[in-house]
Amino acid sequence: VMGALANKIREAVEKQFTEKLEELKAKKLEEKIRSEIVDITLPARHQRSGHIHPLDKALREIMKSFIRMGYSVEEGPEIEEDFYNFECLNLPKDHPARDMQDSFYITPEILLRTHTSPVQVRTLRKHIPNSPIRMIAPGKVFRWDNDATHSPVFHQVEGLVVDKGITFADLKGTLEVFAKELFGPETKTKFRPHHFPFTEPSAEVDVTCFKCGGKGCRFCKGSGWIEILGCGMVHPHVLEMCGIDPEEYNGFAFGVGLERIALLKYEIDDMRLLYENDIRFLKQF
Ligand code: PHE
Repeated sequence: VMGALANKIREAVEKQFTEKLEELKAKKLEEKIRSEIVDITLPARHQRSGHIHPLDKALREIMKSFIRMGYSVEEGPEIEEDFYNFECLNLPKDHPARDMQDSFYITPEILLRTHTSPVQVRTLRKHIPNSPIRMIAPGKVFRWDNDATHSPVFHQVEGLVVDKGITFADLKGTLEVFAKELFGPETKTKFRPHHFPFTEPSAEVDVTCFKCGGKGCRFCKGSGWIEILGCGMVHPHVLEMCGIDPEEYNGFAFGVGLERIALLKYEIDDMRLLYENDIRFLKQF
């Protein structure tokens, strides 16, 4: 009798206990749901996405054009040795042409590179016999200049082709294709004789002003032409200093000023705007 009674009591207590537990659990869940409620009618927060800087945009177009022609993309250090920046490019210590590229020296032998041409030297010194070199090298360069058309930091894209039997016609053809791809099929090019210590013969290349089509306007300062790059056939002495036999191999090189291209392509009249990162300016491109 006592046993049966005890069982009944246990059952009754257990039932009440489970009922209370369920009740508490349900209450807790309801509270949780109420506290986590999301008002899906709220308007979404506006996401402002960035976009490509005009300099990068111009660089990507240049790269696209040369990659399609089979060029690889190389890089070199911005802090460079005098040896690569000048010496190996036919610019020995007392050469007057060094004055055109006054730079920032860290030690007498180490400087911020004044052009991307040292990447030519670095690539040439890695040359594997019988394999052609076809490369471009974009990057920052540094010179002691600062005004509306010169910045102490700017960008160049170097180009170098070395193989057997390369001629000036190859250089001309390549750069003509490049200019047309960049500025449109109507673009004409003009090769003006020039001097660089590391190329011989050398030239500066002008393109017909895309703004006026060559008639002369504010953009081209009335001449109808705009200078975009320096180029030439790699000097035999440079090849020699890089351990390449100039009797067997030759080639051409060029150096494009990236800011120039961006200013022209996007009709920007002050280079400094490219570096100020003012969103009102940048979002126009
Ligand atoms: N390095 C030259 C400059 O900065 C440009 C150049 C490159 C010229 C390659 C010829 C060949 O002025």
